[in-house]
Amino acid sequence: GVLQIGAVPLSWDRLGIEPGPVVIADSAAIAGRAAVWQMAMDEAFWDGYGMNGARVYYAGKALLCAALVKELTAIGLGIDTASLGELTLALRAGANPAGVGLHGNAKTDAELELAVSAGIGRIIIDSLPEIDRIAAIARAHNTSAPLMVRVTTGVHAGGHDFIATAHEDQKFGLSLATGVARAAAEKIAATPGVHLIGLHSHIGSQIMDLAGFEVAARALLTLRRDLIAAGISVDEVDLGGGYGVAYTGVDAPGPSQKLVADTLAAVVRTACAELDTPVPVVSIEPGRSIIAPTCVSLYPVIATKDVTTESGQIRRYIAVDGGMSDNIRPVLYNASYSATLANRLPGGATVSSRIVGKHCESGDILIPDAELPSDITPGDIIAIPVTGAYGRAMASNYNMALRPGVLALADGAASWWLRPETLADLFALDTQLSET
Ligand code: LLP
Repeated sequence: GVLQIGAVPLSWDRLGIEPGPVVIADSAAIAGRAAVWQMAMDEAFWDGYGMNGARVYYAGKALLCAALVKELTAIGLGIDTASLGELTLALRAGANPAGVGLHGNAKTDAELELAVSAGIGRIIIDSLPEIDRIAAIARAHNTSAPLMVRVTTGVHAGGHDFIATAHEDQKFGLSLATGVARAAAEKIAATPGVHLIGLHSHIGSQIMDLAGFEVAARALLTLRRDLIAAGISVDEVDLGGGYGVAYTGVDAPGPSQKLVADTLAAVVRTACAELDTPVPVVSIEPGRSIIAPTCVSLYPVIATKDVTTESGQIRRYIAVDGGMSDNIRPVLYNASYSATLANRLPGGATVSSRIVGKHCESGDILIPDAELPSDITPGDIIAIPVTGAYGRAMASNYNMALRPGVLALADGAASWWLRPETLADLFALDTQLSET
């Protein structure tokens, strides 16, 4: 890619930035991955015989800023949001409201008010009381709000990743099995101020095996058939996000955009034929699979030390500026990453190394066990790839850390999409702190 980690000596000078944790985004790679999703879906869901085409909504929770909204909407993607902040950002960055969606299991009045007044294309409801709240707001605006019902499909298969949000006893969605999802659709159809546009399912995240999506799609399409039979039309079915990516060299590659699109199209086509219903518009909401592989995090090495483990081995600790405040995923999910020395060629042998952050927690580990050159020393730069999704987006100010900037590389030039946070940004919130 643009950065050519390992091939070109990298320096903070060459990047034109101060040393510190930073997320480098390859803007061409982002546009490329988004365009491939859109093309794969368009191709798979268009045959001139009743397949209506497809829509791709980027799940903004993975990483969101105005530049991303502009790049992705220019390619034709919609933006999926899940909070007042994400929704406001998407709209202010110029996304066409018709291509914006709002999720959430606890949507506030402020979120619903903005969604309805801006006229966004879909609000995905996650509870029954929400329906009346939205309807009241929409009637006050003399409009009708387009709703989808988030359905808990009950998809579960032992040992698969998609267990995460598909089972019954978790907070998301309305149950298919107990009839609540159907009741929600019927309630929407009967309530002035709202109308039903579709059914939605999101079964989990970082999913490598597409079988769960097929089961969920069938479940949604069957509910749709029942609703159609009851006189309630359902034009769209959204199969959610969750398509996995490889994080390290030993991971299998995630399902390609084309494999996902072709697999979903095949199951939708077959199921609709069996159910004797027209094929709906199909949409998806990938976040991670668009953004994760397009970013690399850089960290300055601050300190190293050798520690003798309980089994008598030497383990090298490499402490970097950064850590769990800019990437919580290793701590929170045991997520794996790999690391490379990025600023020079390595000298000599490798040593079992643990990359740790600077926070006041012994669990602040970015990579527990990496084979790294034994001559890594303060001043070196460590690169950790595949950090585009849920890194900066879940960053915190723990220990009053400054959240890293996102530096976009395009056509050989670097520019900030998000500038690095400053102490002034941080202290601006403190009403009792004097200027000096
Ligand atoms: N749609 C809905 C309704 C979602 O809840 C999510 C993710 C997505 C789409 C996008 O999923 P993706 O394609 O990015 O897998 N923080 C975790 C991931 C949480 C995902 C939450 N929902 C992580 O760092 O792995």
